[in-house]
Formats: sequence, structure tokens, C-alpha cells
Amino acid sequence: MSKVYDIAVLPGDGIGEEVVREGLRVLSAAEQIFGFSTKREHLPYGADHYLKTGETMPDAAFDRIRHMHAVLLGAIGDPRVEVGKLEFAIIAGLRFKLDLYVNLRPIRLLHESLCPLKDKGPADVDMVICRENTEDAYAGIYGFLKKGTPDEVANQTMIYTRRGTERIIRYAFELARKRGPKPGADKPQVTLIDKANAVRAQDLWTRTFAEVAAEYPDVKTDHAYIDAACMWMVKNPEWFDVAVTPNLFGDIITDLGAMIQGGMGIAASGNIHPGRVSMFEPIHGSAPKYRGQNKANPLATIMAVSMLLDHVGEPEAAKAVEEAVASLVRSGRIDSLQAGRYATDELGKMVESELRANAEKFVRS
Ligand code: IPM
Ligand code: MN
Repeated sequence: MSKVYDIAVLPGDGIGEEVVREGLRVLSAAEQIFGFSTKREHLPYGADHYLKTGETMPDAAFDRIRHMHAVLLGAIGDPRVEVGKLEFAIIAGLRFKLDLYVNLRPIRLLHESLCPLKDKGPADVDMVICRENTEDAYAGIYGFLKKGTPDEVANQTMIYTRRGTERIIRYAFELARKRGPKPGADKPQVTLIDKANAVRAQDLWTRTFAEVAAEYPDVKTDHAYIDAACMWMVKNPEWFDVAVTPNLFGDIITDLGAMIQGGMGIAASGNIHPGRVSMFEPIHGSAPKYRGQNKANPLATIMAVSMLLDHVGEPEAAKAVEEAVASLVRSGRIDSLQAGRYATDELGKMVESELRANAEKFVRS
């Protein structure tokens, strides 16, 4: 009997609806080719829903999602709603309430022409950032004193727990082991990116990293302070393989990473708790100015669908979707990732037909 996966689909705001539609088109094709199916539940949450009902995302929705296999999210954020309200309730809500402690962000350049760095090609840009996803400045511990007065005090606490730090570091080492050495290297590598020289609380990361590393003699370790890591990612991206970093630095450096792989049009991420329901999304925002124009690039969402498939237990389908995108970009049939270069549905259809054309290579007889 073929497997059925329960998927919550949350298009959200702005271009979310359009890019998710293309992600689902590719997902449907993958289902037919690989012989599994999905039961999809569309969730209406986002700015329109909030402005109509005053509701962001109710507890009942989180409770239903807990029993599903995965969530596909488009984008959240709308200028009509106060800054951070929906992002906090929905994106951070999913990450925190479902304890999705890994924010997995692969950075892989598919074609030299898409890279803004001089003399760097696909062999140089191939890394995965493991961003901790449930702690740090995102924990929501903040406040204001004497708000609106000249004596105002604002504070926000960065928290790191031993347990939270260890589990993401361990995930990074396991991932490095699974990926194996990069071409030309004798061992896979994990780089710790922190700012322990200034944020002394991150000494917890330094110590935990050293302890976990001792259990993985087959994995090489490296360390970079976040400021230097930004520099190296531009100057020598080939030095990175797997990297692990706290939440806030991970947020920032993965936007840099998205640019060196060709831009927000293709950067995908997984918000993962291994073995449990997890959420997959493009890294880009809701781009309200492109809403409804069929101009947004859906490739990042399609890559997020690939990550979703890998998570639910369809690794061949995941690989096939990723390869369909990769072969279109490598061959120059998709030669730009900029919004508007291709229509949103045009790209979705290109990936779908490439996937079908390559199907025989992937489906085991
Ligand atoms: C991301 C986004 C979010 C974050 C925002 C929308 C809260 O930038 O997923 O990287 O800061 O984590
Ligand atoms: Mn971000």
C-alpha cells in the first residue's frame, strides 16, 4: 500500500500563495512518479486572516499540526500589520511550539553565473548551515522600562541552554558524517561560528562543541567568530562544509549565504525536529510588491518541498526534485533567479516537466 503523508499547507502573505502553488505542483508530480500521496490541509493564517478575524494562529491549529508529518510554509509578513506580530505568532510560533530546533539551510551554487563572487564556482560554494532555532535573542525575553521617555531602557536576553546547544551541535556532526568529506578533503568538517570573545555566555557553545567533537574523531573541526565568518564566506566560501551557529548569527549569515548561491530566489530551509513534524519554507520574505503578479521565483519553495520529502521519508523523490531544479539551472535553461525573469507558473511547469523527463533515472524498478 502506498504511503500517505499529512501535510499542512500555509501559504501566508504576499507571494506566499503563488510560490506554494508551484511547490505543490511539483509535489503532486513527485507523488505520481514515486508512488506515495499526501493529504493536504490548507491553513488560512497570515495578514488577511488576522485583519479579518483578529486571530494570528490559534492553539488548535498547532495541536492539529503536531499529528501531521510536515508543514509547507510560503511567507509571512505584511506592511498592514504591526512589525513582528505575525512573524512571531506564526513562524516563531511553529519553531518554538513544535520545538523545531534545527534550522537547516543548505547553500549550494548551481551555476557560476549566479554567484556574485569573482572566480568562484559550484565547487567553491557547497555548505550547510545548522542554525539553532529555539533559543538566543529569539526566545522572546524582552521588555521596556520608562517607555517613550528620555530615560527609556530596553532589553532583550540571549539565552543558551546546555541541552539546546548540545542537540544542534550533535545534529551538525551527524550531518557532516552523513555528507562525508567534500571532494579533495579527507574528512568532513564542522565549523563552529560564534562570538564567544565578546558574548561571553557563548562560552557554553565553545565547551559543548569541544565535548561533542571528541566523540567524532572522523570529523574535522574548525572555528570562526561571526564577523570573521562573514569575511571568509565572501573571500573563501570553499573553506566551509557544515557550520553550526546560534539563532541570531544563523539568521544573518544565511542571508549572506543565500546571495552567494544566487539569491533569495533559490534559498530554502527546513525547521526540523528529527523524527517529528517539521516545517519547510523558502528563506525569502513575502515581497508584497510582487503579490499576485506571477513574477515571484518559486524555486526556493520547490527546494523546500525537496527538503520536506527527505524529512518525511521519501529521499529518492527529494533528490529527484532537487536534481530537476539543478539540471535546469546547470544547463542554462533557467539562466536567472531574479523575480520577473520568468513567470512563477512557468518555472513550476519547467521543474515539473524536467522531473517527469528524468523520472526513469530515479524510480527503482
Ligand atoms: C528567517 C526570517 C525570520 C527570522 C523572521 C521573519 C522572523 O528572517 O526565517 O530567517 O528572523 O528567523
Ligand atoms: Mn532571516
